[in-house]
Amino acid sequence: MTKPASPAGAGLRDVVVAPSSICFIDGEAGLLAYGGYNIHELAENSTFEEVVFLLWNGRLPNKSELAELDAALDANRMVPAELIAMMKSFPKNAIPMDSLRTAVSALAFFDPDQGDNSPEARKRKAIRLTAQFGTIVAAIDRIRKGLEPLDPKPDISHAANFLWLLNGKDPSDVEAKALDVALILHADHEFNASTFAARVTAGTLADVYAAITSAIGALSGPLHGGANEQVMKMLLEVGSPDKVDAYVADKFEKGEKIMGIGHAVYQTEDPRATHLRRMSEATGKRQGDTKWFDMSKRIEDLVVAEMDRKGKRIRANVDFYSASTYYMLGIPVDLYTPIFAVSRISGWTAHVLEQLGNNKLIRPRADYQGGMDLKYVPIDQR
Ligand code: COA
Repeated sequence: MTKPASPAGAGLRDVVVAPSSICFIDGEAGLLAYGGYNIHELAENSTFEEVVFLLWNGRLPNKSELAELDAALDANRMVPAELIAMMKSFPKNAIPMDSLRTAVSALAFFDPDQGDNSPEARKRKAIRLTAQFGTIVAAIDRIRKGLEPLDPKPDISHAANFLWLLNGKDPSDVEAKALDVALILHADHEFNASTFAARVTAGTLADVYAAITSAIGALSGPLHGGANEQVMKMLLEVGSPDKVDAYVADKFEKGEKIMGIGHAVYQTEDPRATHLRRMSEATGKRQGDTKWFDMSKRIEDLVVAEMDRKGKRIRANVDFYSASTYYMLGIPVDLYTPIFAVSRISGWTAHVLEQLGNNKLIRPRADYQGGMDLKYVPIDQR
């Protein structure tokens, strides 16, 4: 019997799978960069649309390239009426991530490039998917509330369009900017679980929609994109700042994890959390009520102190403060993970395009631990 030479540790931690030029993370230093640009540079100066171009092309766009991308997103934001009709048949109590997964899978039926996996068609699919994710997520919410989905507006940003489609009113500049920064921060994160799922599926030469449907499924879990919803459920369960200490002590005693804390790669603060913490505080101050920020901060401080005491380098991740920020922006809790997807579709498609640009079927080996050379025993003798 020959076994694979060196079994990877559980969860493939620190295993390098393929070269990539899209995103770099230094988990020790807490550094995240897209295409060489530090996330802090991008969060402070850029827009989601520019970041989409950067992830797909490896460089920032010039004015005419950005205008061209804006126009392409504008032209593709509407989803087919057949899809909306199909979505109206989803159960009203469907979990939005399930609805998104199903809708995106079905969207493949209507793609003008269906069956075409050429580089040009893949790029067009990436544009359509990125343009349409926000429209679909907003439609999921409106349909379940008995409201008609709205038409996207031309000439406003992707973030502003999403808030318009969701709420039926134009967002303030501050609201649109807050969401725009959140979209920048969530756009890509190297070979995380959902992106890896997308690359594995794309690597079989399955269609882009199949790859993205895999990614949505992987994102939905509470150890990945689902954590932001769990954080808000925790804050709502705690209810008020005076109950935080007892709640956290109880969690420690039961040995339960606090959602939104810890990361498989970062050994220090997730740089995205730095921005979202600031955003949560600023949103609370603007609204004259910092309760959700204060509770989050107290939970974070208690967990960090406890982890330091135990010698573990565990800090807040991207999901911890996005929860309170989205809550204060009036976004329903079960849309937090779909909104993560509205941003991450840009990174997923960038990775699918990169994977297929130099494809190799992804096929690791198992470190087999079961029995060997067993003889078949008829069922009545077992
Ligand atoms: N709260 C309390 N303890 C935590 C913790 C948390 N959020 N995250 C990790 N730990 C502890 C574990 O209990 C474990 O302790 P032990 O060594 O005494 O058993 C240790 O830290 C390592 O945790 P583990 O889950 O094995 O590490 P990982 O590298 O797989 O963790 C996560 C990465 C993200 C899965 C983990 O931190 C987690 O579950 N966090 C909460 C979910 C979340 O926010 N996910 C979104 C990630 S962006």
